[in-house]
Order: sequence, then C-alpha cells, then structure tokens
Amino acid sequence: MLDGKKTLFSGMQATGTLTLGNYLGALKNWVDIADEYMTFYCVVDLHSITVRQDPAVLRKRARDLLTLYIAAGLDPEKNCIYYQSHVSGHAELSWILNCFTYMGELNRMTQFKDKAAKHADNINAGLFTYPVLMAADILLFQSDVVPVGMDQMQHLEITRDIAQRFNGIYGDVFTIPEAYLGKTGKKIMSLQDPAKKMSKSDENPNASIYLMDEPDAIIRKFKRAVTDSEACVRYSEDQPGIKNLIDIYSSVTGKTPEETEKEFDGKGYGEFKMAVGESVAALLKPVQDKFNELSKEKSYIDGIIKANDEKANYYALKTLRKVQKKVGFPERIR
Ligand code: TRP
Repeated sequence: MLDGKKTLFSGMQATGTLTLGNYLGALKNWVDIADEYMTFYCVVDLHSITVRQDPAVLRKRARDLLTLYIAAGLDPEKNCIYYQSHVSGHAELSWILNCFTYMGELNRMTQFKDKAAKHADNINAGLFTYPVLMAADILLFQSDVVPVGMDQMQHLEITRDIAQRFNGIYGDVFTIPEAYLGKTGKKIMSLQDPAKKMSKSDENPNASIYLMDEPDAIIRKFKRAVTDSEACVRYSEDQPGIKNLIDIYSSVTGKTPEETEKEFDGKGYGEFKMAVGESVAALLKPVQDKFNELSKEKSYIDGIIKANDEKANYYALKTLRKVQKKVGFPERIR
C-alpha cells in the first residue's frame, strides 16, 4: 500500500525483442488491470547485466521497451513507467536484503540453475542474487500485487519469505505481496516446438512472433507453425501445436477454445492458421503504429522519463529510509 492505495509492481527485461508471448502473457494483462491500482512498471535494466550485454544495444532496447509499455496502452501519466537503474533505491535495498537471505534459499532457485548452465563461462554473483534484487524491486514499493508468469513464482515466494523474515525482526515494514497470474493464464508456446515456451531468446525466428513483426511475416510464421496429424481444429493435449494456436486465437479474440473449435468445425488447418495470423496481425498493428509514432517524439518520452523517475524515487525513498532506520544506520543530518 502506498498513499492508501493498493500497489502493483511488475517489470520486464530489455533483452531480446518482445514476443507475442510477452504481450499476451504480460503486457496486455498489465493494461487490463492498471486502473485498479497504483502501478509501477519498470524496465529492469539492473537485472539485465547479470548476463553480458552490448552497452549500446542494451540502452536502445531499454528505451524501446519503455516506449512499448506506453504504445501498448499504459498511460504514463497514471502509471509509473521508469528505468530501474534511475532509482538507486533498488540497488540499496537489494544490498540490505542480501543480508537477510540465505545461500541455501538461493541455491534452490531453478532459474539460477538454468541460467548458470546456459552461461557456464559467467556464473557471477549477480546471477546468484538476482532474486534478491527482484525482491527489492517489489518490496521497495510496498506492492500488494505482482503480475508474473509461472516461471517467476519461485522468485515471488522468496520475496515473501524475505519480507516476512524482515518484518518478524523489525515489525511491519513491508507489505507481503501476492502473485497475479492473469485472467487467461495461458502460456504461449513456440510455433516450431509446442513443448517449449515462446521465448525472445529462441534462435529460430520462425518459432516466435515478435511484437514488431510485419503482418506478412506474422502470417507466414503461422502458416509454417508445426501442427499435428488429426487435420481438425480440436483443443486437446494430444495435438499441442493446434492447442497452442487455439490458445493464441482465444486470447486475441476473447473467444473460448470451445467457441473456436465450433467456428472452425469441418475446416482445415490452412484456413485456421490464416485466421490466427490475421487476428494477431490486426491486434499488433495499432501497438506498432503507436510505437513508431512515439519513437519519433524524443522530447515527449524524455519528459515522461524525467517525471516518472522523480515519482518512483519519491516512493522508493520512503521505504528505503524506513528500512535504513530499522537496521540501525545513522540518521541523515540536513
Ligand atoms: N525477473 C523477471 C523476469 O525475468 C523480471 C522482474 C524483475 C520482475 N523484477 C521484477 C517481475 C519484479 C516482477 C516484479 O521476468
């Protein structure tokens, strides 16, 4: 809670190009629920350097991601859209929380194990303490709800554990956050391998629809999507390719899987894939147009960044000063 309002915090990394999975699974949900809360939508660039980044690319992607938050429909006057690196409270609280987190807890994090295996040449301490920084993000704003994907649930659990531990020692300092899994909660899978999540780091560009893909590219990728052998549009675990396409179509159109089955009853995969492609292209078009328009408005975006940095810093400092006092740091003299 901040200023008597329920608070929502979420963030995304500016690595790779956002996919339809990120949009349907996260960004679109953010827009849908934004009005109900005091919101903070962060571009988590501190998290990004846990793996090596090209500085110029990271800077450009961070700016693009921030612009995309707005293009997707988050009003930057109402929602605090900002860069994590511009609010030093994230790093400062993270240090303090590191001292309240056990090695054993962090050792259990499955994402650390996966990332360590993937980046075996650079298993740095930041990668290990990544969940503590994420806890700091969330707790810094006294967040009540945190929209996250299933893959982040373990990080949310450790955030709650750290907050409860801290509160147990010092009194009620932090709000204990809850996960918000979204309305449909459907995970969007790769178009080339429906056993895998659609991922911005997939090496096969046909596996993912990128948010900025042109309509023909979108339609071409759906045409090439792997399907199954039943040759009918039926929602079932034994046809994971078609099931994924139905999930996508349902998320985009708001129809249920059953309604979708009915709509394509007696029709072939070809016709169905075309319809999915067209619906996705139409969904993304206004976001793309808005993004292109906003990208040209440098001073407008700069103004948003400045104003929201100030807002985020104001709330971050409130929590940080309280925490610093609780743990025994000397008072500031002014
Ligand atoms: N770790 C998250 C991810 O990779 C991103 C993130 C960082 C986040 N801090 C957060 C998400 C705080 C929600 C809340 O998806």
